[in-house]
Amino acid sequence: MSREAQPFGVYVHWPFCLSKCPYCDFNSHVRHAAVDEARFARAFAAEIAATAARVPGRTVCSIFFGGGTPSLMQPQTIGAVLDAVARHWQVAADAEVTLEANPTSVEAMRFRGYRAAGVNRVSLGVQALDDRALAALGRQHSAREALDAVAVARGIFDRYSFDLIYARPGQTPEQWKQELKRALAEAGEHLSLYQLTVEPDTPFATLRAAGKLALPDEDTARAFYDTTLEVCAAHGLPAYEISNHARPGGECRHNLVYWRGHEYAGVGPGAHGRLDIDGARHATMTEKRPETWLSLVERDGHGLVTDDVLTREELADEFLLMGLRLAEGIDPARYVALAGRPLDPARIAALNEHGLIETSGDGRLRVSLPGFAVLDAVVADLAA
Ligand SMILES: C[S@@+](CC[C@H](N)C(=O)[O-])C[C@H]1O[C@@H](n2cnc3c(N)ncnc32)[C@H](O)[C@@H]1O
Ligand code: SF4
Repeated sequence: MSREAQPFGVYVHWPFCLSKCPYCDFNSHVRHAAVDEARFARAFAAEIAATAARVPGRTVCSIFFGGGTPSLMQPQTIGAVLDAVARHWQVAADAEVTLEANPTSVEAMRFRGYRAAGVNRVSLGVQALDDRALAALGRQHSAREALDAVAVARGIFDRYSFDLIYARPGQTPEQWKQELKRALAEAGEHLSLYQLTVEPDTPFATLRAAGKLALPDEDTARAFYDTTLEVCAAHGLPAYEISNHARPGGECRHNLVYWRGHEYAGVGPGAHGRLDIDGARHATMTEKRPETWLSLVERDGHGLVTDDVLTREELADEFLLMGLRLAEGIDPARYVALAGRPLDPARIAALNEHGLIETSGDGRLRVSLPGFAVLDAVVADLAA
């Protein structure tokens, strides 16, 4: 495939939230003064120009506004970023343009403006359909408000998705099954379902250390995951990735860019990118602190703080790590091309014998459904 024809995504990070959820370790910050969006829009445009100067001539297949809470941005700020992308690269006529939204009524009121600005897909952070659970997660919305926001999204966008977090403190797999069924009745073509992870240095980590956060043991966690796979598949939204479920054709194309190892630009505070320059893959990251990022961009035209050329070994490991999250798995020939050596046949045979991986008819290597429950261990074994 020519360079121009290969998928190329643009990730734009909006680093602000109204409040910080106690489980979240994303690069998100609460500011009590108004954020100067026009200044951010100029900085985004400058960083897009600087990135395009390094990787010109790409055709953008997907743009993703992630956060933080991008649904706090004014539609005109979104429009300005999309204009900047289109000034510096070609944008495919059918490009997917996703915005992550928090499901409050105030934010839902902006959806029409986002549509007019060029957004064609929203991903809503519903998290739970139970008000007590939402309060425990520190969310600013009720279940009713979230479902109302989903209904607004459904009326405005052809494509929408929402996120739920399961295996929450005190939740049983049976309760989750009922909640998931209710969620599926509201779902479009896509759902993201994440098992609660206690991230270091979050208030949830402090609670757990104090013995105040009861999380499921390994067997119960497995029951949560199995329920998730079963109920979603029965409803026509099978897992296409370890935590993502879609009707065939409804997959998030942006995330497929990451998982299939394609190229993407990361714009905004704390954004990661993967850029192919002179035959080498660069792993980039920008400054995380929003105001420092702004100053860097205003001084230098970009906020890059990391720009590493990946070694063959790193490229091959990343390819495994990302590709094996997908139900479609990986093409072992591409691994050979990246690593310069094949995967160890003895390890493949052993994992196969344990029912953790399988080879499909067309020769792709994929993790089996039981293997997904222990994906990290499978990848570590193969990459060793
Ligand atoms: C960038 S975040 C949030 C987007 C948006 N600000 C929101 O909260 O709705 C994307 C998703 O990651 C998931 N997530 C964040 N932290 C998590 C954690 N510790 N465990 C499981 N899922 C998590 C949530 O479902 C969330 O919607
Ligand atoms: S979960 Fe969403 S709203 Fe909550 S702090 Fe993280 S990014 Fe912000």
